[in-house]
Amino acid sequence: AHVWKGVINEYRDRLPVTEQTEVVTMGEGGTPLIRARALSELTGSAVWLKFEGMNPTGSFKDRGMTMAITKAKEEGAKAVVCASTGNTSASAAAYAKQAGMRCAVLVPEGKISMGKMSQAVAHGADIIQIDGNFDNCLEVARKLSESYPVFLVNSVNPYRIEGQKTAAFEVVDTLGDAPDIHVLPVGNAGNITAYWKGYREYAQESTATDGTALPAVATHTPVMWGFQAEGAAPLVLGHPVTEPETIATAIRIGNPASWDTAVAARDESGGLIDSVTDDEILEAHRWLSSREGVFVEPGSAASVAGLLKQARAGKVPSGKTIVATVTGHGLKDPQWAIKGAEAEDAQAAEPKRVTFDVVSVAAAL
Ligand code: F0G
Repeated sequence: AHVWKGVINEYRDRLPVTEQTEVVTMGEGGTPLIRARALSELTGSAVWLKFEGMNPTGSFKDRGMTMAITKAKEEGAKAVVCASTGNTSASAAAYAKQAGMRCAVLVPEGKISMGKMSQAVAHGADIIQIDGNFDNCLEVARKLSESYPVFLVNSVNPYRIEGQKTAAFEVVDTLGDAPDIHVLPVGNAGNITAYWKGYREYAQESTATDGTALPAVATHTPVMWGFQAEGAAPLVLGHPVTEPETIATAIRIGNPASWDTAVAARDESGGLIDSVTDDEILEAHRWLSSREGVFVEPGSAASVAGLLKQARAGKVPSGKTIVATVTGHGLKDPQWAIKGAEAEDAQAAEPKRVTFDVVSVAAAL
């Protein structure tokens, strides 16, 4: 049987490593591509969900982190630092531990979910809560890495993008070609940058890291659709947002670091970057859990919220192949399932309380 060896070993010839590189991995990647039946029925296209919550720390960040920590180790780093809305810090804390390094994380106070905070705590990261938002945290993390012997592992580190591009490779390898449309949530904009890079590389002939020729794998690149939360939509507005606000704390970002490359992904692919409201995000969150059986965190649902918004506007073509990435696991931030059960369109089950005999249990069903 084939045993998945993590994204660096699986895609070694397309990543900046040599035979001497000691790979720091936890077997990330190889995540399920799940057929979304209800979304396919709604749109008349084949819709698939790339479920990134199935990575070792529960989000897509692990793809970039294996690469960033591997290179940090190769360059002799003893400590790493990141700013985070929660998932990057969870991933950095775990991979740093795996590599025997120290990890400092800068997070916006009161604005990261309990699940993500628990991960950073459990892995023994130095956690600094900042009285500010993610953008402020990133500014401090950058300066820290310039003045102190500590490696920055945010997605401004190009190795993060290299690792994350493997998600596009996996989609093509699974479907046999690139999809027609790829839908993503957008926050700091590293992921849309990475997918576009991966799709472009797979649609061209290229040269492997060891100098050998690599054939094109896909016949085309997809149209990229990105969605930001309405209260944190700088790329849609065309200017930074000083006080971003959304219930989807993962994407509560006002000044994305990968701004230009996200705009390039949109324009070169003939795509769009639009916004979705918090209500639309929660509706998509409920849709995913109650109709598709896929449990994600709210920020992840922004992609599907965008797809639903486009469908309502009659802008989703039928007969196509569409992939929506859902970026993080529902267990990261589970309170929304309980809150969402009260919503009008909820198909959530109410827990019932009965005595422990079979007649009472059967009667309650
Ligand atoms: N979805 C989730 C679950 C995220 O955690 C993030 C980003 C995104 C989407 C957006 O991806 O930034 O590449 O556009 N989270 C970062 C963090 C900022 O610190 O964990 P992006």
